[in-house]
Amino acid sequence: EQIMKGSYPHFMLKEIYEQPESLLQTMRGRVLINSQSENKTNALQIKSDVHLGGISQRLSDFKRSSRIIFVACGTSFHSCIAARQVMEELTELPVTIELASDFIDRRTPLFRSDVCVFVSQSGETADTLEALRYAKKCQALTVGVVNVVGSSIARITDCGVHLNAGAEIGVASTKAYTSQIITIVIFALQLSLDSRSKQVRRKEIHDALLALPALVKKTLTDLDEHMKAIAQRLRDNTSILLFGRGYQYATCLEGALKIKELSYIHTEGIHAGELKHGPLALIDENMPVILFASQDACANKVQNALHQLMARGGISNMIIIGTEGDSNLEAFRDKAQLVLVPQTVDCLQCVLSIIPMQLLSYHLTVARGLNVDQPRSLAKSVTVE
Ligand code: G6P
Repeated sequence: EQIMKGSYPHFMLKEIYEQPESLLQTMRGRVLINSQSENKTNALQIKSDVHLGGISQRLSDFKRSSRIIFVACGTSFHSCIAARQVMEELTELPVTIELASDFIDRRTPLFRSDVCVFVSQSGETADTLEALRYAKKCQALTVGVVNVVGSSIARITDCGVHLNAGAEIGVASTKAYTSQIITIVIFALQLSLDSRSKQVRRKEIHDALLALPALVKKTLTDLDEHMKAIAQRLRDNTSILLFGRGYQYATCLEGALKIKELSYIHTEGIHAGELKHGPLALIDENMPVILFASQDACANKVQNALHQLMARGGISNMIIIGTEGDSNLEAFRDKAQLVLVPQTVDCLQCVLSIIPMQLLSYHLTVARGLNVDQPRSLAKSVTVE
């Protein structure tokens, strides 16, 4: 086992640090370089800039579809939330996300024109598998986004994409999460390949994907010690609240899941738009708060949330996960713990802002003397309902 871990004390830390490479592997042969060019009249020539071999044969079926439904559990569910907005933006189709267990409970109506995407690291999760069987019965087009080659979900779906992230052994998912997000983003790029109106936006996302592994590496190098120090401060707390919205809503859900499943500290990820609908009552000077503030379309609304949280006394316990160069955050440098990640395009920012949360949950767990790779009562793959 120690040989497989290499120089790392735990699989989780190894897998966190593998992300620059696992993201590269997910993109290899799929996110193509030098794919667009401008001709003399400056009109954009549309050439393939992405290629997903597993679904390219079915593109005409996707064109006929009227909505896309993502189905998943746990961390995989959060990756769907993270990538939903860009899928909606680029395909202009309604996109819904279902927890596999709830989807099965409701036997929700499905049509032959629906595309159902099943996202699963292991490809064996019982609820996701049952939801897939139900979707097949309804004759929807089924797509797998799976890491484990040859797994049940990979075999049963009509078509799909492998994450190619490499084996993930730690129970808490890390590198599969970031690969799932970018796989769904590439999927959205593939589905909007011939949409002229989307070419400028597509190129922005395409170029940001290629730059992402290096930024993940920088984030890991810059923030590991910082998150370790924050973990020391938070280790004896009984509760932590995470707030975010827009592209960062998924980050606060996933960050909260990582912290609670590993450190056993009660942690909640809450949509910042819900602050006044209850959670604000929990905020006092003792409640540690982590707020995700990115330079995107939600920035002003997040600033409002920040002021409301600060006014309730959450100052000494406030951690802001922001982006480098955000002048709006300078005013908070002395009042809160600022954790800055590099800036990228809005829809990929969540890949960078989850890194400090992965590191924080890891260091909290080590500081509390708990089992990082095998938290109590949990399994890597939940194969029973
Ligand atoms: C378990 C694992 C999680 C995972 C979830 C869904 O709860 O501990 O890490 O996110 O199952 O698993 P899947 O293999 O379908 O992604």
